[in-house]
Amino acid sequence: MISIIGSGQVGTSIAFLCMSHVLDDVLLVNRNENKAIGKSLDISNAIPADSKFSIQGTSDYAKIVGSNIIIITASTGTYTKDRYENTMSQVTTVKEIARKIKQYCPDAIILLISNPLDVLTYVFQKETMFSRFKVIGIASSLDSSRFRYLISEKFSMPQSLISNALVLGEHGDSMVPIFSRVSVDGNQLSSMLDIDEKISMTNNIRNYWKKLRACNIRSQFGIAKQTYDVVESILNLKDIAIPASIVLEGEYGESNVAMGVPVKINKNGVSEIQTLDLEESESRLLRESSQKIKDQLRVVFH
Ligand SMILES: NC(=O)c1ccc[n+]([C@@H]2O[C@H](COP(=O)([O-])OP(=O)(O)OC[C@H]3O[C@@H](n4cnc5c(N)ncnc54)[C@H](OP(=O)(O)O)[C@@H]3O)[C@@H](O)[C@H]2O)c1
Repeated sequence: MISIIGSGQVGTSIAFLCMSHVLDDVLLVNRNENKAIGKSLDISNAIPADSKFSIQGTSDYAKIVGSNIIIITASTGTYTKDRYENTMSQVTTVKEIARKIKQYCPDAIILLISNPLDVLTYVFQKETMFSRFKVIGIASSLDSSRFRYLISEKFSMPQSLISNALVLGEHGDSMVPIFSRVSVDGNQLSSMLDIDEKISMTNNIRNYWKKLRACNIRSQFGIAKQTYDVVESILNLKDIAIPASIVLEGEYGESNVAMGVPVKINKNGVSEIQTLDLEESESRLLRESSQKIKDQLRVVFH
């Protein structure tokens, strides 16, 4: 069973993908129970006729018992300036959810989606003391898909011709697109862009969410698909390699922080944190990104 905490835009989009692709049973857990029940009634109509799975809605955390995967999408408010606007209420919410999960489902793999993503991934792991390899923040794969999309737009090329578009570090204003590894139809992206174009593309990735907000839209389907891909790979025993946030203990020279790094995920969670050869300027930006998350963590744990 997949339990999804939070029945808002993101949680229900993930649930819709899981049910319509016949992945597993889904439990929607929401603060307002009626919303979870109503959404599950609606999504039930998207279940293919030959599916053996069902979806239920509840506000009762005791029902998460037996879940293989728990996805946290709970949110207490939206942000307009940056993802740290509601940090303290989000930390309080995630700590409450962490205690419930520890009580009812301590062996599950946890996928964190809620913002501020890296801070909450760290807080959840410290609150539960679950293995850090089972607490995974999903966001850098979304940022990477935005990087790939913007490259395809710039060069009017299909995304299928772009390889290794990777964004690491904070899911926030200091995220680091790794230009040095990207190839576009067999050519090195680095040699196709001058410094100003790189700065402009970096800003466009970091501010992608603001473009959505300008249209009165919040990110929903992209993150839902990125999350679904991870759930599907775990349940169908297919390894997947993506950038994701995990508590670091020395990798990339960092500890006491969670941030987006390249990982392999299998049925047990993260099986490997991959070490990439980065250019010195990229390593420096990654250190600065980590420092920014640490500054936020200092406020949370002061
Ligand atoms: N990682 C990423 O790349 C990424 C991308 C997009 C969004 N996000 C983040 O994902 C989160 C969800 O976004 P959204 O658009 O789905 O928000 P949303 O539509 O506002 O939904 C949030 C849901 O969480 C529920 N909730 C709040 N506290 C809860 C609790 N303690 N237990 C259970 N449910 C609780 C709310 O319930 P009520 O109905 O009772 O209020 C609401 O249904 C946000 O933090 C957003 O910033 C992350």
